[in-house]
Amino acid sequence: MKTIRDFGVRNKRVLVRADFNVPLSPPAGGQEKQGEILDDLRIRATLPTIDYLINNGAKIILMSHLDSPGGKVVEELKLDKVQERLMEYLDLSITKAPDCIGPKIEKWTKEMRPGEILLLENLRFRKEEENNDENFAADLSKLGDIYINDAFGVSHRAHASIVGVPKHLPSGAGFLLEKEIKTLNMILKNPDKPLIAIVGGVKAETKGAIIDRISKVADWVLVGNIIAKNIDGKKVLKPVDGAKDIGPKTIEIFKEKIFQAKTVFWSGPLGMVEKKEFQKGSLEIAKSIVESKAFSVAGGGETTEFINKIGFEDKFSYISTGGGAMLEFLSGKKLPGIESLNVIIR
Ligand code: 3PG
Repeated sequence: MKTIRDFGVRNKRVLVRADFNVPLSPPAGGQEKQGEILDDLRIRATLPTIDYLINNGAKIILMSHLDSPGGKVVEELKLDKVQERLMEYLDLSITKAPDCIGPKIEKWTKEMRPGEILLLENLRFRKEEENNDENFAADLSKLGDIYINDAFGVSHRAHASIVGVPKHLPSGAGFLLEKEIKTLNMILKNPDKPLIAIVGGVKAETKGAIIDRISKVADWVLVGNIIAKNIDGKKVLKPVDGAKDIGPKTIEIFKEKIFQAKTVFWSGPLGMVEKKEFQKGSLEIAKSIVESKAFSVAGGGETTEFINKIGFEDKFSYISTGGGAMLEFLSGKKLPGIESLNVIIR
């Protein structure tokens, strides 16, 4: 797979697919049509790619989806807040296009100067994105000379901007996608042992596959109460107390395993952390992960939100920007977005 370093980007229009699908608070009402960004990890994680392109004289066209507007324009899901946040971090002005395709926008991209950034409007305002429409992908590809996928979080979706565009343009991975693949591959293929995987959350159906795959490499897989009922396996360690959270005995047993680890992977809170009274288990586990000397990787929407809330984001070695994409990757599935970067341009 090619990466961003393999291209001469100077003076080229580089079309970057990012995953700026960040959680937003509900709009406050009054004049305010949009909510505030609750966690901007996904925006920050894309900055190395954008900085590199600026420093190397590329013309940068950024595209992303936000939430699921269902193929129509939804005012609250315009990318204005993303534009604002990017401008703050990059300390430069960014133009946002009113749409994501069309002759007018194509003309704009041709008039851009090196180092300039154009942000396209929410891709999912057009149903063609999720339908992986061929013509839509062709229209998007007219906006760039090179395509860079830096959207690990949505690379499990066979959508037009993920799998369609690379059929038309020389394509490669951005720094974030590359880092996600390297880190998660390290866990699956070459972890510093012992590896302890901690899998919580509520949806046993989506966690079964990852537990099966990670059991092949982990020394222990510690699971939360809610999914424990439906999971079995030699290396699976289930809670011995608690119900909506893990209890004190389980916390001690889990801690002992974590302190032996050289690598820890964590996805899914161990209790119903949306309620304060069921946060203790996850908090104690988070503390022991950061106190241990282990290389620590966490990911998944709820887990990242929790880690962020308790102020531990910088204490983990790596936080994945993937939710579903990370789970699929660690279940051993091939992600369409990664596969499609290997296609040969005819
Ligand atoms: C995510 O939040 O996991 C990605 O942005 C993908 O979003 P989706 O689940 O709406 O496709």
